[in-house]
Amino acid sequence: MAEEAAVKKVTAFIGSARKKYTYDAVREFFDDLEALGGVECEIVALCDYRVETCRGCKLCFEKGEEFCPLKDDRDALIEKIIASDGVVFASPNYSFQVSGIMKIFLDRLGFVFHRPRFHGKTYTSIVVQGVYGGRRIVKYLDFVGGGLGFDVVKGSCSTAFEPMTEKERGKRDKALARQSKRFYERLFDPDLRVPSLFELMAFRMARTSMSLTLDDSNLDYRYYSQHGFFESDYYYPIRLGVLKKSAGKIFDAVFTLIYKSRA
Ligand SMILES: Cc1cc2nc3c(=O)[nH]c(=O)nc-3n(C[C@H](O)[C@H](O)[C@H](O)COP(=O)(O)O)c2cc1C
Repeated sequence: MAEEAAVKKVTAFIGSARKKYTYDAVREFFDDLEALGGVECEIVALCDYRVETCRGCKLCFEKGEEFCPLKDDRDALIEKIIASDGVVFASPNYSFQVSGIMKIFLDRLGFVFHRPRFHGKTYTSIVVQGVYGGRRIVKYLDFVGGGLGFDVVKGSCSTAFEPMTEKERGKRDKALARQSKRFYERLFDPDLRVPSLFELMAFRMARTSMSLTLDDSNLDYRYYSQHGFFESDYYYPIRLGVLKKSAGKIFDAVFTLIYKSRA
């Protein structure tokens, strides 16, 4: 008898102080996803949590995230990410960027850009705008997702100039249906994704600079060392084709030259 696939948990983190258009867009995305089956969805409204503004002490970068002086719900939110197979970051467009609530949350995850950890988890973004500027925010949130280690499925932006028209709703629903299908396929794909050339280059640059400029006294260096990143082809075990394997070697050589010449 064929084994039943395990249910996948998907959590959406919403950066709006009200439950209106961004919330509705996430609900629509989840309805589409649930209709495909085998998923359990949870909405986390960041405004219901205590997320304090980063003070910039950089103790999380230098000593470890456990040394952060802020006592808020950061770790409970990170636990929710860890417990998820799929993650959505959703935000309204505020002054041509993510909302303040979302940005404060992203800053609380800042140390993860140094020590990425969410590999293998599917991610996407949902942005809602009144008029203009949302597409760039999708690009930003997708880039952020990649930096945190997620496997990024291209996000979407919809327009809701209040009150939302039927035409806008129809356009949004079509886009979200396509996005949920792409997300679902990736969520249930058992294979880890082969990195793009850009991702491969960023990884090789980070580890080469670390190996040449830092040592065991540095937390990021130890993290890379403990996870075997100084020896591996990428953050996770993956078979690179001939082209990417060669490109990886070239990146290693070029960044070695660059960082040695800076010494
Ligand atoms: C402070 C603030 C700034 C905004 N800035 C923009 C903007 O730069 N561009 C835009 O298209 N919409 C802007 N909007 C409109 C919101 O993106 C839009 O109303 C969105 O639907 C709000 O999401 P919500 O319904 O989930 O709160 C802004 C709204 C607020 C409250």
